[in-house]
Amino acid sequence: MRRKIVAGNWKMNLVREQAVLLAKEISNERKIDGVELMIFPPFVFVDPITQQIGTDLKVGVQDIYFETSGAFTGEISIAQAKSVGAGIALIGHSERRELFNETNTILKKKVDAALSGQIDFIFCCGEPLNIRKTGREYDFVKIQLEESLFHLSEEEIKKVIIAYEPIWAIGTGETASTEQAEEMHAAIRSWLMERYSEQTAEIIPILYGGSCKPDNAKELFACKNVDGGLIGGASLKTSDFIAIANSF
Ligand code: 13P
Repeated sequence: MRRKIVAGNWKMNLVREQAVLLAKEISNERKIDGVELMIFPPFVFVDPITQQIGTDLKVGVQDIYFETSGAFTGEISIAQAKSVGAGIALIGHSERRELFNETNTILKKKVDAALSGQIDFIFCCGEPLNIRKTGREYDFVKIQLEESLFHLSEEEIKKVIIAYEPIWAIGTGETASTEQAEEMHAAIRSWLMERYSEQTAEIIPILYGGSCKPDNAKELFACKNVDGGLIGGASLKTSDFIAIANSF
């Protein structure tokens, strides 16, 4: 059986007191059997949060840099993230790709750095609206995976979590329909099968992200190839985040 994961990407929200409080509230909630919860607060709050909560809530960073140290003003290395308790990183979120010009080539370097620096990661992919409108979403997402991820060996790819986040559904209130989500997730799994093997494709969790909320999570998570969610807005409210996790 595949892992079930509900992850909260807090993006650039909250200040320290609010962030620590939210993390504590989530951490104190009764844990849902078999569902892994993760939070991705802004980097500066990782340390105060990991100091104050238990290890059953995994804390991650929203981005990492691929170099190990040196003159890279403003960037954060994997060793630095790990040194404050981060156990996982997001790589390739669409906001990093679109607003900060992160290309498939840069993301490939981040993927390699994460593997050599031994930090888990969620690799994000997904198409913008103009690509979906012209029916090219499958080619677009496949290229994202081929250019940043599919150079990994079979042993390496087994450690990866993938998140499919159609950009037109992020923060817009417009969720992909269950059919749209399931079709893309099934396609991603079939490409994993082609590139690697059926066994490997079967164990890699594929999360959905994009306006996932308590009222649509149940339907989405019921899809055969949807193994959880990467939640933005709704992860900033404990009751919503927990309700989403309870949707399994
Ligand atoms: P929303 O849930 O706010 O649409 O954001 C999704 C997302 O980008 C998670 O990484």
